[in-house]
Amino acid sequence: MSLRAVGRGCFRGQALRIRHFAEERDMSESFDVVIIGGGPGGYNAAIRAGQLGLKVACVEGRETLGGTCLNVGCMPSKALLHASELYEAAASGELNSLGVEVQPKLNLEQMMKQKDASVSALTKGIEFLFRKNKAQWIKGWGRLDGPGKVLVTHADGTETTLQARDIVLASGSEPMPLPGVTIDNKRILDSTGALALAEVPKHLVVIGAGVIGLELGSVWRRLGSEVTVVEYLDRICPGLDDETAGALKRTLGKQGINFKLGSKVVSAQASSAGVELALEPAAGGATETLAADYVLVAIGRRPYTEGLGLETVGITTDKRGMLGNQQHRSEVPGIWVIGDVTSGPMLAHKAEDEAIACIERIAGHAAEVNYAVIPSVIYTKPEVASVGSSEQALKEQGRAYKVGKFPFTANSRAKINHEAEGFVKVLADEKTDQILGVHIIGPSAGELIGEYCVAMEFAASAEDIALICHPHPTRSEALRQAAMSVHGWAMQG
Ligand code: FAD
Ligand code: NAI
Repeated sequence: MSLRAVGRGCFRGQALRIRHFAEERDMSESFDVVIIGGGPGGYNAAIRAGQLGLKVACVEGRETLGGTCLNVGCMPSKALLHASELYEAAASGELNSLGVEVQPKLNLEQMMKQKDASVSALTKGIEFLFRKNKAQWIKGWGRLDGPGKVLVTHADGTETTLQARDIVLASGSEPMPLPGVTIDNKRILDSTGALALAEVPKHLVVIGAGVIGLELGSVWRRLGSEVTVVEYLDRICPGLDDETAGALKRTLGKQGINFKLGSKVVSAQASSAGVELALEPAAGGATETLAADYVLVAIGRRPYTEGLGLETVGITTDKRGMLGNQQHRSEVPGIWVIGDVTSGPMLAHKAEDEAIACIERIAGHAAEVNYAVIPSVIYTKPEVASVGSSEQALKEQGRAYKVGKFPFTANSRAKINHEAEGFVKVLADEKTDQILGVHIIGPSAGELIGEYCVAMEFAASAEDIALICHPHPTRSEALRQAAMSVHGWAMQG
């Protein structure tokens, strides 16, 4: 279902309230900045613009602010990952082994309810931040209407024209469709459907061994599903450091996720009871069938530019439908682009960084996003976190580098907590010792990577980290030991 169709599904009462609001509004108000899209790109841009004293409006067509991330992405997925991890710790006997005897019973309805309540609190939090920073939310779908103009269509069909000196496009992304596998969000799901199932699938087939597939595959496996992940390539998580991806695949395999690598789904037949998939080897060959009661299609996301009115100002997209940018400027003066709708990793914190830099530039300040230091995290158990170059990327660049590795089995805190799977791997320039990339698979990897982001922003060497006092006993000591290992003197492993 398109974002607009979701937005149109509002209640009559809400539509009336919106109409009332529209009638009261100055029908062609002028702003310094109008932002289209209220996700992490758009809402952070609106807040920063408000802080800088710019008169700002953010046009968002959903019923709530927060975009994909808060409504159907980062936040609901993390809510289910957290709850399902606790459920599994109880159901697998892990808690019993610690002397905490429990007999858990899954209440899926409550698990979904607490997720929805958290999401609702977070989206309302953005509304509060808008009020606090004098950013105006214009509820409706916006489209460019020639230079300096945004036409907003409200849920009741009325329209408002906004004038703006600068316009920021932050319309985000949507799931990539797979030909032959039609998403109905009944049996064949996108991530939004897989975050809201009313029952635990007996057999969930996930198409795509990327971030969404592995996170949501983990959720449903923990809650009792058999999970099969079908991946076109002969590896999982393309782009992730090879060794780290290999370790993640092994550990997820041990947890019970089945992988069918080098395979493509060529068709899917959905019925009220389930789905029958036809699979072929990626390189071609004999077809096999696979039956599932639910299928999750997670083969990537694509920029969302539907109905943005790009043609009214002469902006074009590339072959993938993506908007180009030069330091957040589109090809048309006064129109800017940030977040998933433009190049770079499709991550909420990348959208946020671009939002800040873009608004600072609009306000006439200097600002830069350092694309070399954008961390990424996969919230499986154990977590995987990376920043900077992978080992294979350094090899391709012909860069001479050193590797320091430290296993969590040798980290006292991880060991005492019985979560000693994984390692920290630091890649540093052979001559200068500058840190070039860090890959962590292990407990709280997503929190740990922040230290190396700071280090890399300050162009630190591995030796800098090796010589910094870290608290004991913490997992962060593994970060220091890995840096020591770059120079061959890890003391505890
Ligand atoms: P979006 O968040 O997509 O927001 C764009 C908004 O624009 C939408 O609300 C849309 O309704 C609105 N819009 C579009 N067109 C118009 C229009 N014409 N008029 C008005 N409004 C419009 N990233 C992470 O960093 N960490 C994670 O853990 C993470 N988990 C994820 C889990 C899932 C299941 C998914 C799907 C994504 C996840 N992401 C995660 C990615 C993250 O959600 C995106 O990178 C981020 O939301 C991009 O922000 P954005 O503002 O560019 O776009
Ligand atoms: P992805 O790009 O992470 O992974 C897609 C996977 O599908 C790849 O492994 C790809 O090789 C595979 N694939 C592509 N076509 C295929 C086909 N026809 N058959 C089988 N496999 C195929 O995309 P995903 O998981 O959909 O996530 C989309 C975006 O959302 C990502 O870019 C990610 O950055 C973001 N996201 C981030 C999260 C995080 O930061 N923790 C969590 C979830 C999503």
